[in-house]
Amino acid sequence: MNGELKNDRLLRALRRQPTDTTPVWIMRQAGRYLPEYRSTRARAGSFMALAQDPDLACEVTLQPLQRFDLDAAILFSDILTIPDAMGLGLSFAAGEGPKFQRPLRNSGDIDRLDVPDMDGGLRYVMDAVRTIRRELDGRVPLIGFSGSPWTLACYMVEGQGSRDFARAKALAWDDPQAMHRLLDVLARSVAAYLSAQAECGAQALMVFDTWGGLLSPPMFHELSLRYLARVTELLKVNAHAADLPVVLFSKGANAHLEALAGTGCEALGLDWTIGLDEARRRVGDRVALQGNLDPSVLYAMPEIIVREVDAAIDAFGPHPGHVFNLGHGVTPDVEPEHVKVLVDAVHEAGRRIRA
Ligand code: CP3
Repeated sequence: MNGELKNDRLLRALRRQPTDTTPVWIMRQAGRYLPEYRSTRARAGSFMALAQDPDLACEVTLQPLQRFDLDAAILFSDILTIPDAMGLGLSFAAGEGPKFQRPLRNSGDIDRLDVPDMDGGLRYVMDAVRTIRRELDGRVPLIGFSGSPWTLACYMVEGQGSRDFARAKALAWDDPQAMHRLLDVLARSVAAYLSAQAECGAQALMVFDTWGGLLSPPMFHELSLRYLARVTELLKVNAHAADLPVVLFSKGANAHLEALAGTGCEALGLDWTIGLDEARRRVGDRVALQGNLDPSVLYAMPEIIVREVDAAIDAFGPHPGHVFNLGHGVTPDVEPEHVKVLVDAVHEAGRRIRA
């Protein structure tokens, strides 16, 4: 399936195989910091209208690749498509973040949930994957993605974004069985969703556990890690997904890197609160690492960006198995020219450290 791929740095690095330089892509690389993204989004009318139109979703997926020498494309969509397809009614009010019309309020709401039909309410995502894969024409690999069961549960119970997801955590304390039923149906949904993306042409898979770091160690194991492991397990027995590298990004969960490395994933995403040298010492050659520059470095002058990229490449060292990225998404007020400086600096420093 990857036979005609012209740039396979990402897939090789995720499998910890040698590459000529360090591959780089950027979380939220298709986003509001690009004027052409804002223009396509305005044409679509809303974020969801943009995500649900496969041709427009393809257009914005490819926009950053036209500007920068990136080594991967990531499907333009959102993690909240699964709860939307489960009937919760997703919308994004301008500048306010996601909102569900029908958040989960009791265990009855949870019992009514089922794995959504990938050819029904999520068909638009699969159409986008197929369209993007065709239009990429083998230039770089396409990354498919999903939210983690725990992170999706946070939004579904809270009904919107939150600083502490207090409602979701209260449910986990007061009715752990209901929370586990929710996480179980979400794990099966996430695995089915990622498997369907693989079938439609995704070449690597990433799971965003954005709110894993909210949990105490025992709760992290019970509510986040266990269901991440369930997802990777289900992917391994799916004919389309079994051979695809899986990246797990559990933000704020650096205390659990060793445990995350043992879930059967190929790579871990890292936020910027740990050095790549320390992370690598702790996980060794068991997994590749993806990350982890502080996104605020992109506000700095070009010389500082280059210096910080150099430092990160040096911290990882000359071993295979590093995919350069930010430690979280690129922010909307970043100068696109600064992203170009970063991408070119990664390739240059990646060649230098291998020389
Ligand atoms: O990375 C990419 O370029 C691919 C597209 C992508 C989006 N969301 C598009 C998007 C991906 C991978 C996501 C993942 C996602 N979505 C996460 C996990 C990663 C993370 O950021 O922690 C989460 C938690 C969400 C939920 C979500 N979607 C929130 C909280 C918001 C509002 C906050 C914000 O940044 O505006 C969104 C909206 C969203 N998803 C935007 C984009 C480009 C901005 C919407 C807009 O255009 O107005």
